Amino acid sequence: MSVVKSGVLALAMLATAPVFAAVTIDIDPAKPGAVINKNVYGQFAEHLGTGVYEGMWVGPKSDIPNTRGWRNDVVGALKELHVPLVRWPGGCFADVYHWRDGIGPQDKRPSNVHTNAGGVVEIDEINAVGTHEFFDLIDMLGADAYVNGNVGTGSVQEMSDWVEYMTSDGGSPLARLRAQNGREKPFKVAFFGIGNELWGCGGNMKPEYYASLYSNYENFLRAPEQSRPKMIASGGSGFDTSWTDVLSKELKGRTIGISVHQYTVPTGNWDVKGKALGFEEGEWISTLANTLRMDQLVKDHVAVLDKNDPEKKIGLLVDEWGTWYDEEESAKSALFQQNSLRDALVAALNFHIFHEHAERVPMTTIAQMVNVLQAMILTDKEKMVLTPTYYAFQMYVPFQDAKSLPLAIKDNTSYTLGALTIPGVSASAARAKDGKVYLALVNTDPHKAVDVAVNVAGTKLKGAAGKVLTSATMDAHNTFQDPQAIKPAAFSTRAAGGKLSINVPGKAVMVVALEE
Ligand code: AHR
Repeated sequence: MSVVKSGVLALAMLATAPVFAAVTIDIDPAKPGAVINKNVYGQFAEHLGTGVYEGMWVGPKSDIPNTRGWRNDVVGALKELHVPLVRWPGGCFADVYHWRDGIGPQDKRPSNVHTNAGGVVEIDEINAVGTHEFFDLIDMLGADAYVNGNVGTGSVQEMSDWVEYMTSDGGSPLARLRAQNGREKPFKVAFFGIGNELWGCGGNMKPEYYASLYSNYENFLRAPEQSRPKMIASGGSGFDTSWTDVLSKELKGRTIGISVHQYTVPTGNWDVKGKALGFEEGEWISTLANTLRMDQLVKDHVAVLDKNDPEKKIGLLVDEWGTWYDEEESAKSALFQQNSLRDALVAALNFHIFHEHAERVPMTTIAQMVNVLQAMILTDKEKMVLTPTYYAFQMYVPFQDAKSLPLAIKDNTSYTLGALTIPGVSASAARAKDGKVYLALVNTDPHKAVDVAVNVAGTKLKGAAGKVLTSATMDAHNTFQDPQAIKPAAFSTRAAGGKLSINVPGKAVMVVALEE
């Protein structure tokens, strides 16, 4: 045998030899947990920056191909995500939005300046997108609507009229007005939010005051029984559980959920948040460490809910989450930020936390869908790019309405830099609607790949196949010039000697179906 041949043989032997696995994941399919509500993969579209206008809505007369004003490219891409739910029109914007400005002939609608959009000083609101246009988008996406009403500068009468306009099935003057505006049938408002961030931009209130206000508003939101939206109370900020405590005591039977907002800021300092791109490794790990705090946040709020609502009638709805970076001076519009591989890991780590708490977290909406904060899609005039966060949402589609499966991670690696240490591997498993078991894996270490041995109790696994998202650099991202710089690659592996081992590259998100 020649030297070359024996070298080849040695390599072949290595390839078939059992792989040393640093980490082991044991999945127990016999004890499924709660269903992961598809609304955990919800989106948020606020009238802010170019999140709605330009990013999604260009108007029917635009040269950019559109359907009744909505961009075909953006709607097409969003459909691939199976978007289950869209929250609209804000955010802080909701508390200055007057719905009557957005109905009737578009050329007769007023333009106004709003000063309450997510800390952004002012935006021009042309009101071309109003109730009817929003529901047109919702219908095209096949999503549910989560409409957010105005407590801050509105009135009980105005909100009550809006709900009646959208949901009443005939006879009432507002139902007739809706029909005159082109929609005979009521719209389906799955969820209705009563105000936003009442502790801040929504009115600087105390939770007790808002609880009373909420009761008053909710009392007058009349809708036919079969089309009555599920009402959502706007809760506290981050780790502050006082709002959850007061609202879950005071609003029993009047709300299906209390929202909480939690953003991931790389430095943890809102004055100097950190950059979207070109960051050092220190901000890679601090961003991931900060985002992992979502787990404790959910636990803290859920502990309060468990105390006040043992019947589990009230959910915790994380209806704003995601990364928030320093805005570049060259940013094309308010809160526009680039989105890199790091954002995909942030998304995936949060998905795993939400899956873990599926029983109490039936809905989350990432901030935001297009061109604002941790967006799925960025646009520049006629151009569109899909972000790494988009790909994370796409890879996790099988987890929508899947049954979560308990898993144990043994001998996990850890990733340390300076004073920070985080788990090396994060994982989540579920039995999807197609009957297959899906396993999602994140390797937080940007330098080292990891071998993960996977066991499913009572099953001899044959292999695994799916997608992996990774890149050579931590801030890999897509641009209008290079829109395909980072995208998921196909991944598959076979079991050897009855054992399945998955090699997860450094800084990667992976979702595979396990072949039983
Ligand atoms: O998502 C941007 C803004 O952040 C929202 O308008 C507001 O609710 C939050 O403060």
